[in-house]
Amino acid sequence: IRDDKATAAKYISDYIISRINSFAPTPEKPFVLGLPTGSSPEGVYKNLVAAHKNGEISFRNVVTFNMDEYVGIPREHPESYHSFMYHHFFSHVDVDPANINILNGNAEDLEEECIAYEEKIKRAGGIELFLGGIGPDRCDGHIAFNEPGSSLRSRTRVKTLAYDTILANSRFFGNDLSKVPKMALTVGVQTVMDAREVVIIITGPHKSLALQRCLEGGVNHMWTLSALQLHPYALIVVDEDATLEL
Ligand code: GLP
Repeated sequence: IRDDKATAAKYISDYIISRINSFAPTPEKPFVLGLPTGSSPEGVYKNLVAAHKNGEISFRNVVTFNMDEYVGIPREHPESYHSFMYHHFFSHVDVDPANINILNGNAEDLEEECIAYEEKIKRAGGIELFLGGIGPDRCDGHIAFNEPGSSLRSRTRVKTLAYDTILANSRFFGNDLSKVPKMALTVGVQTVMDAREVVIIITGPHKSLALQRCLEGGVNHMWTLSALQLHPYALIVVDEDATLEL
């Protein structure tokens, strides 16, 4: 528990830097990093970019896999997760573009795209550290786009978004529900659980109930982050505001 959003983000960025540096990745043995989008990790990306500029961290031998992507909006759309990632992170660091993996929400065969993504993760040796956020209270604390009812054994697949998720994300689409994509490609709960380490950032009072359900409630598929209770190496970093319901 950190005081506020900024110190929570700082804790996580320092943690990721120390994990990558102590791993000492090489082209033969890269560090495989799972990454999220959303407003929560923005501070983390900002710190990682600043640390890169100061020479504290290189992403040259880091392979990345993003959690999710909308279906049906062009890659160049300002709200696509592709655009988000390049805008906040990839364009500012030395990551090799060949090492960046983001689901293609415009693939002709979406199911095939998801199967191929899981295979790619496997070929890369699995994910070393998966960073994630969660949806707010109204959105059931989902991880990636694993909406309520997602199997805790789910893998990368096409997912129809819950109404509350569409509503929450409408703020990025001029509050116009009709403009928000209704489907997404997302890694599954099991894909996240397979990572050797999972780090989650949760800040703000609007996520306090979700945090409470996921941490103190039973493991269940209606609050998909709760699966993390079974992960041998999970770290949840929160600010004071998010602890209201604990
Ligand atoms: C979307 C993303 C999630 C993210 C969530 C919360 O649902 N698919 O990965 O955790 O939004 O976003 P924010 O951090 O903006 O609250």
